[in-house]
This record gives sequence, C-alpha cells and structure tokens, in this order.
Amino acid sequence: MKQYLKVDEWSIIEESFDPMTQEISESVFSLGNGYMGGRANFEEKYSGHSLQGSYVAGVYYPDKTRVGWWKNGYPEYFAKVLNSTNWIGIDIDIEGTPLDLAACTVTDFRRVLNMQEGYLSRSFTATLEDGKTVKVESIRFVSMTRREIGAIRYSVTPLNFSGTITVTPYLDGDVKNKDSNYDEKFWNEVEKNVESGSGYVTLKTKKLDFHVTTAMVYDIHVAGNKLDVEAETVDREKYVANIVKVPVKENEQLVIYKYAASVTSRNYGLGQLVEAAKEALQSAREAGFVALLAEQADAWKEKWKESDIIIEGDPSAQQGIRFNIFQLNQTYTGEDDRLNIGPKGFTGEKYGGSTYWDTEAYCVPFYLSTADSSIARNLLIYRYKHLEKAKENARKLGFTKGALYPMVTMNGEECHNEWEITFEEIHRNGAIAYAIYDYVNYTGDKAYLGQYGLEVLAEISRFWEERVHYVAHKDKYVMLGVTGPNEYENNVNNNWYTNRIAAWTMEYTLEALDYLRQNEQSRYAELVEKLNLQDSETDKWADIIAKMYYPADEEKGIFLQQDGFLDKQIIPVKELAPENLPLNQKWSWDRILRSCYIKQADVLQGLYFLSDRYDLETKKRNFDFYEPITVHESSLSPCIHSILASELGYKEKAYEMYLRTSRLDLDNYNNDTEDGCHTTSMAGTWMSIVHGFGGLRVQNDRLILKPSNPGHWTSYSFKVMFRGSRLQITVTDQSVTVTNETETPAALTIFDKEYTVSGLSTVSAQNVPVTI
Ligand code: BGC
Repeated sequence: MKQYLKVDEWSIIEESFDPMTQEISESVFSLGNGYMGGRANFEEKYSGHSLQGSYVAGVYYPDKTRVGWWKNGYPEYFAKVLNSTNWIGIDIDIEGTPLDLAACTVTDFRRVLNMQEGYLSRSFTATLEDGKTVKVESIRFVSMTRREIGAIRYSVTPLNFSGTITVTPYLDGDVKNKDSNYDEKFWNEVEKNVESGSGYVTLKTKKLDFHVTTAMVYDIHVAGNKLDVEAETVDREKYVANIVKVPVKENEQLVIYKYAASVTSRNYGLGQLVEAAKEALQSAREAGFVALLAEQADAWKEKWKESDIIIEGDPSAQQGIRFNIFQLNQTYTGEDDRLNIGPKGFTGEKYGGSTYWDTEAYCVPFYLSTADSSIARNLLIYRYKHLEKAKENARKLGFTKGALYPMVTMNGEECHNEWEITFEEIHRNGAIAYAIYDYVNYTGDKAYLGQYGLEVLAEISRFWEERVHYVAHKDKYVMLGVTGPNEYENNVNNNWYTNRIAAWTMEYTLEALDYLRQNEQSRYAELVEKLNLQDSETDKWADIIAKMYYPADEEKGIFLQQDGFLDKQIIPVKELAPENLPLNQKWSWDRILRSCYIKQADVLQGLYFLSDRYDLETKKRNFDFYEPITVHESSLSPCIHSILASELGYKEKAYEMYLRTSRLDLDNYNNDTEDGCHTTSMAGTWMSIVHGFGGLRVQNDRLILKPSNPGHWTSYSFKVMFRGSRLQITVTDQSVTVTNETETPAALTIFDKEYTVSGLSTVSAQNVPVTI
C-alpha cells in the first residue's frame, strides 16, 4: 500500500507523476455522469502502462463463455461493459516530437479531481529529449446536465522556444476490452465522417446491435484569439482525426476546447443518431466551455446538498467519505430504470459492469436516503422486469417453480460461470427480497407490494421452498450445497445466513400477502390468480419458517457459519505472519477453503440485515468470534463490521473498519485499484457512517437514531431524506442535533425519546454512550 495522494477535504490530489501508479490514478480520478464515464487516461499520447477505458452505461457485449470444464447450466456468455470510442484524445506534437509523458521529463505534475464541482484537472511541465519545454494544463468533465456531452479545455505553452505545435483531436473506436475472452474486438464500423473542425464515428457491437455515435467539434485559440485554420483530415477504420498545425511563439498559450457527444441506439432510432449527436454538440459549443463548467458546478452543488457528509477534525476520513459519495453519484443517477450499478462503475472493466447483489444489499440504502425515493424504486423495478428471466433461470437449473435471480447480469440472464457462485451463491435471492422490505419500510410506500413487490417475493419464496428439504431425524428443513456471502467456503451445508434469509423471505412474503388481503382486496385476488398461489404453498412456507435448521453452538452462544464450522482450526488473523496476506494472492485455493478465514461478513451480514431480531449480547458474541478470523478481502466486508462494531460500542474497531472501507481505493488497501474502484462497496462506506456511527434505522414509520462519535472526530454530520423531509443530523460527543431543511415535519426517535422536527426547525438531544 503506497499512500501518494494528498489529503484534502474536497479534492483528490496527486502531486508528482509516477508511471508505477498511473493505472491506479486512472481508476481513482475517473469521471462519470450516470450515462457515461471513463478512466482518467491522458488526452495526449501515453506509451506507458495504461488501461484505456470509456464506457457508455447499458452498452455491453455478450462475450462467449470461456471455461476449462463446461458444466450443464453454465451461461453461454459473460456480459461485458464495453470499452467504447475514446473521445478524449488530443495528440500533441512539438516540432516533430510527440508529447508523451512516458518519454520526456515531467516536472510540476499535478492532477486534481475536484469533487465539489465535478471535474478533473491536470498540469505539468514537460521537457522533451531535444530540450524543448512546454507547460500543459487541462480540465475535463462529463456533464451532469447534458448527459451525452463531455468537454475538455487543453492548453500548451512553449516555455523556451517558438515553433509549430501540431494538435490532433481525434475519435478512436478501434479499441479493445482487456478482459475479452478470445482477444476479439467487439465493435464494427457503421459509418464515419470527418471535415475540418468536426468528425464522427458510428460503431455497432458485433452482437446485439448496440449502435453508438460519437462526434466531436473543437475550437483552437492562440494567445486568446480564436484561430481560423483549415485542418488536415484523417480517417481510417473506426477512427477520425483533424491535424492542425499551429505556429506559436514562446510563452504564448495555445488552447483547444474539445466537445464530444456520445449517443446510442438505446435512446434513439438508428437514423437519428448522427443528428442527435450533432445537435447535442452544437448546443454545448454554443454554450461554451465556461458556461458548461458552471452548469456542472451547479449540478454538483445540488447533489452535495442532498448527500454530503461533513467530518470535523479528521481530513483523511472526510476526504474518504466524499470520494465515496462522489463516485456513487457519478455512477448511478437513477433516471433510467434499465440501468444499474456495476461493482466498478465507470472506472474499469472488471466484473463486467454488471449487476450483482451489491446493488440491493449495499446501494439501495444509499439512494433511499440521499435521493428521491423514485431512484431506489427504479432499482427495484429493474429486478421486477427481470422476474421472467429469473424464473427461466430456475427452470434451467432444474427447479419446477420459483425464481432464481442471477448472481451477475446485464439483462436478467445469468452470465457468471463459476459453478460455486453461479449455482450455489443463491443467497443473492434473499438480498433482492430484503431490498423490497427496505424500500417499503423506509418510504412507507406499501402500494409497491401490490404493484410489483409481492410477485417477486412470492417467486423467490417458491424457489426457497424447493431448494430446502425436510429431514425427519432432525425434524428440520435443511439447505445443502451452497456458498454463503463468504466465498472462501464452497458447497457447504446449512450456511446460517442463507437459511436465515430464506426463512425471512418467506416470513415477509406471508406478511405482504396478509397486508394485501386486508388492505387491497381486489389487487390481492388478482395477484393470487396471476401467481396461481395455492394455500398448500403458503402453508408449506409457514412450516419451513417454523422448522428451518440453524446451525449454532450452544456453549459459545454463536450461530455457526455452516455445519461443522468448529471442526476448523481457529487461529485469529492477527496471529498469521503478514506475508500470508492477502490470502487470495498468497495461498492456494485449497488451503483457503480448508481454513477458518472468512472473506466477508456472512453470519454478521445476517445480524446486520435482521438487526432488530437479535439483542446486543447475541451480536457481540458472534462479532467477537467471527471478526478476528475475517480477512476482509472483499471490499464489501469492512463496512458491515464497522456498523456492528459501532452498535456494540467498539469504537476503535468501528473506526479502523471505517477507514479501511472509506479509503480502500485512495490507499489501495487490496492492491487492486488499478482494475477500477470498488464502487458498490462505497455505498457500504456511507452506511458505516449513517447506519453505523449514526445508528440510523427506520422502525414503525419513525426514523431511529442512536449516534455515537467514533472518537477521532470533533463532530460529523450527514443528510438523509425521509418521507418528504430532508434532515441534517450533527453528532458531537455531547449532543445530537437534527435540522429539518424542508417544510415537511419528520417523526424521529433519538436514543429512546420521540421527537417531531417541524419544518425548518432544529431539535437537540444529549449524546448517550453505548453500554453493553
Ligand atoms: C464478493 C461478492 C460481490 C462481488 C462484486 C466479490 O468479491 O465476494 O460478494 O458481489 O465481489 O462486488
């Protein structure tokens, strides 16, 4: 772990150029606007190690599955987020020598991700082999207000010579995915055009026929005056460029403003793409770079108004949480219910950019509290729309009824192909059910159950019903051959978490049915008919709920992660020599599977989800047993541990886990940030403050707060939207203050006392430390 980024409360700052950390920085400094985004690649040529990445949300490729040993039930393809046309490119040539940071001396390098206003800037001085020195400054953003638009201001100033600088703005669709299974390129050219001053390329994917048109225009200024110059045009396969030769005097600044638009067949008819791109570009260029940048700052101001967290007295923690919130808001904005949140967002290819259980288990709570409830609802509807595919998936695996949602998907079809995950990591179904509960409980929108929720719940319950079986000698239902959230165990019997979330799903399904029977009789009758729901099924669910088998150790007073867990040699992680870690890079898979070490919260994930069903003593015993043998090698792990540690009053542990989750990518804890950022776990970071330190829950239509101060902070404050109100909650060692920023009153409980915070007013309570 090398900490090379400067701590700053609103920005991520890199102050020198190191080719060794270039790919990490490309991930960390990524930009996105929910519609498109990309890694922080350089505009000018760079011949060093780099992962080129420009992505357009929802445009993917079904890459034919590649496995050594095919197993029945494997999907045909793995969906991949597509590296698309590189729109940022501007080659710079200085009197015959290309500007390339891998081939010159770089000084005064500074790269800044301005999170407050949503742009990336870079400046440096480069001295070429022949001694010519130039100063370069660039600003780039993808617009939050004009989703299809990206803009760049790039300047070059010769510091010790006068001469010709050749500027080549280009669009390059001849790009590859690093993770292509068969080293194929995924795009074909449809059409292109290039003239002096503009150009476009339209590409289509080799499968699925996604069309993307990327167009560019630019303006060049020298010493403040706009240049009117005829460019030489270049075109080759999937590539268009303009070559502009500009005579520049020593210390005169050459500036190019490049605007690009990317439009896709997801939103336009094929015949409209070029026109749509041109229109978007024309209006952006007319507005001009300065106005676009101001729009961007305003849009981010609004985002921060809803989702900022302020930490006083700990700049590193402050930077961590803002980075996480920034990345989440860049990745998913919720207007398009066909989209979801890939584990790496727009920051890399890994995990295919597809949807995982991460969305329901980690991201839904963030969007529920920091955005209009329609956004979280869209995430739920995404799964509702995939229900038929989830039913097909269950049939494909041999189930006669019910739905098994995929572990990884783009369009509802499973596309993951490791048996222990695809076939066994079925707990994901539970998270999808849990998100429905979470949404309804948080928003009070019970109508959702009749509209969409119940169908999903019933089909998931049917799956669980068939997946468990009754064993007479135990008089219990058991579930064999699963992988729990802890992927460092496969094919285990009776994973406590999976059994628990399965029984819970059935409980909640029965509760939802009951609610509809009593409150929406005609919808209830329609749904019973549509689902062909039989009493024998609901009776069976009730029986399974009553007789589900939960492995436990009475003496230790803990739930067992799975049958036989205590037969393992239990040695705390802290007793392992450091060179063993991370296990997934140092140990054989076989050794990992046999060991007691846990990748991520498993039993503890259940205790977090079903928090109100377990007392503090039970949580404490399980935490004390499992946390010391957890290696947190999934980015989704530290946040859940931080939340539980806060609840248990383990301040140091909660803080340690918080830092680990919030600075995971900034400090490259897991040594893999070059692949992209851990975007979905960033929602977990937010949870570790709001649900962890803030102790926020929603029960019986009230917001419950049991805040604690982790001990390293003078104060912290966070915002939550709750049923029409927006509240700012500030916690110090002494007090908890809630300010209602809207006119809608909010009902809440702070520690055990009930309050109503009227519109535009504030209440305060004394802080009470947790004691067990
Ligand atoms: C975790 C999974 C998670 C996936 C994508 C894996 O390392 O074990 O729980 O869904 O990453 O984030």
